[in-house]
Amino acid sequence: MQKSIGVLTSGGDCPGLNAAIRGVGKAAIEKYDMSVIGFCDGFRGLVQDRILRVSSDQLTGILTDGGTILGTSRDKPHKMPIGNKTEDMIDAAVDTYRRHALSAVVCIGGGGTQKNAIRLADAGLNVVTLPKTIDNDIYGTDVSFGFDTALQIATEAIDRLHSTATSHHRIIVVETMGHRAGWLALGAGIAGGADVILIPEIPYSVDVVATAIRHRAQRGRRFSIVVVAEGAMTAEEAKTINKFVDRKKNAESKRDRKEATSKLDAFHENHVGHTLKLSEQLESMTGIESRLTILGHLQRGGTPSAADRILATRLGTACAGLLHDEMYGVMVASRSNGIKPIPLSDVAGKKKLVPMDHPWVVAARMTGVCLGEP
Ligand code: F6P
Repeated sequence: MQKSIGVLTSGGDCPGLNAAIRGVGKAAIEKYDMSVIGFCDGFRGLVQDRILRVSSDQLTGILTDGGTILGTSRDKPHKMPIGNKTEDMIDAAVDTYRRHALSAVVCIGGGGTQKNAIRLADAGLNVVTLPKTIDNDIYGTDVSFGFDTALQIATEAIDRLHSTATSHHRIIVVETMGHRAGWLALGAGIAGGADVILIPEIPYSVDVVATAIRHRAQRGRRFSIVVVAEGAMTAEEAKTINKFVDRKKNAESKRDRKEATSKLDAFHENHVGHTLKLSEQLESMTGIESRLTILGHLQRGGTPSAADRILATRLGTACAGLLHDEMYGVMVASRSNGIKPIPLSDVAGKKKLVPMDHPWVVAARMTGVCLGEP
């Protein structure tokens, strides 16, 4: 009997999603004679049974397109806003899956998607996931698609900001995305020749950053490029955060856990805008004019790089092979020695942060980049 598979994209979009859909779809249809349906707008489409029948023709010409032909959302199947309530819609997802007599559903997404996928697996669905995100923070894979393109976009932005920073003898603070991980800021900072790079994994001191910029000015370098990850924080902020993280981890009751979680959420909400504050502080502490550029969603838009197209195609086609072999409950990971299926239980709920001894950190230090450590 012909196998039918479902595909959905979930979480923030990124370049390479269409390449991955195409990779899974073409291999599934053409090599393994499966039929493919897409679910619209992530897990919401699965719950609401909103589908797009996927044929080989529809997969032609999408390799180089940014975004996702299926649409995406950040909806979670177990906590979905329905009207003005939040409901557990796992049963509805299971119903849709059974209605279409699917053999499996492929969930293409980031860290949140891995957690959602495992919930569906626990409810009895056959699930395989693919790792995508510009943040590169998915545990278990060396790299996720989307990252390389975002790295290029951020690097090019820093290159362009250099010429205006030097002409005006200014500090330019550049905020990158990356969520709670520093991969994007660190990579683009190194590639773009930043003078200061601030990442969440290395809490910083504003004094140290200001001193580094003053030293540069004393040596005749009257401009500085400061690349800051959106999740970077000062040493004092890190202390506060760690206190709540510990409270959440060691909470003895549901109430304590909820309280710690809401404190953490509030911190992160208020943290938006921290780079503007930093830019103003640096200007007043150094006497050098400072400007802020927030790269934002530009980093997620447009056509994927060659490396992301290749990675997404390799992961997608390998995924079709796993579906054919009926290997489920795994994320298709990219490892130095090839593509490897990793059990979802080893991936979900974990984050891949920048290790302190990572070669990129070492290289940044060796080239005199200030990482802001007190
Ligand atoms: O996870 C990808 C990402 O772009 C993060 O870098 C960023 O923090 C977040 O998504 C932004 O999300 P949204 O598009 O929902 O504002």
